Amino acid sequence: MMLLSMYVVLAISALSAYGAGTSFVLVGDSTTANGTTPNSGGWGNGFCASLVEGTACINTAHNGATTGSFVADGFWDISLSFIRSEVAKQRRTLVTIQFGHNDQKIAPPESMGANMTVMVDTIRSLGAEPVLVTSLTRRSFNSDGTISDQLGPWADETILISQQKQTHLLDLHAKSIEYVEAIGPDAAHRLNRLPDDNTHLNVNGTIVFGRMVADLMAASFAGQLPIVPNPPLTFNITNGIPSF
Ligand SMILES: *[C@@H]1O[C@H](CO)[C@@H](O)[C@H](O)[C@H]1NC(C)=O
Ligand SMILES: *[C@@H]1O[C@H](CO)[C@@H](O)[C@H](O)[C@H]1NC(C)=O
Ligand SMILES: *[C@@H]1O[C@H](CO)[C@@H](O)[C@H](O)[C@H]1NC(C)=O
Ligand SMILES: *[C@@H]1O[C@H](CO)[C@@H](O)[C@H](O)[C@H]1NC(C)=O
Repeated sequence: MMLLSMYVVLAISALSAYGAGTSFVLVGDSTTANGTTPNSGGWGNGFCASLVEGTACINTAHNGATTGSFVADGFWDISLSFIRSEVAKQRRTLVTIQFGHNDQKIAPPESMGANMTVMVDTIRSLGAEPVLVTSLTRRSFNSDGTISDQLGPWADETILISQQKQTHLLDLHAKSIEYVEAIGPDAAHRLNRLPDDNTHLNVNGTIVFGRMVADLMAASFAGQLPIVPNPPLTFNITNGIPSF
């Protein structure tokens, strides 16, 4: 019993040591961003809510952004100033990068990849760690129940850059397709911001996909991060059960 409680105390202090020492900065488009209805929009806020309380998690993703417009419109500079300030606090600073939804409307995948490569190099030059994330799927279904996917080549490009640059990779695209195909169109659409908006998420959607990213992150970093487990939600996600 005493040994057990000692173990718990040790585990908790290890967690809070990581909590003080690790920060997250999120970079991307509206499928990561905080939405107009608080905590809706993208997976970012659900992910931040999955962390040990007090962990810095700064969602700098922006609606409508491509890798090019994110830089040109000044949002990248905002991300960089947060990254600099987290690194200056001597925190391990992980920076997620997820694009594709808007890049695909203007240019071939290689254009996004080249821009992502520059972002990865810049993040490293500041002493932070890039984590590439493939695009969250849209909830648009074919009549046979499979996802009508348009984002595959942009997910593949993200994977390619992660291999070339040897970064951590979270394959959210594959994992989210697998889950929404398992729960089916009705349950998948209940996670939409509006019933016919298959791109953005309501609050329940950010909880589900934020947990999915948290679990992919925890697996990629083998338990080193201040992520609070949520076994029942993870169970639903891994077994294709709708939570909402
Ligand atoms: C998201 O934005 C809303 C305003 O629209 C704000 O009230 C809320 O605090 C933001 N949430 C986070 C986690 O930044
Ligand atoms: C990548 O960045 C360049 C500017 O450096 C821009 O011209 C191009 O449109 C960007 N590509 C995408 C897909 O945003
Ligand atoms: C898991 O799914 C079940 C069945 O839909 C639901 O009742 C439960 O609330 C879900 N649990 C979580 C944590 O979302
Ligand atoms: C989220 O799920 C809860 C519980 O099922 C439900 O009451 C609520 O209406 C849902 N929210 C949205 C925005 O769909």
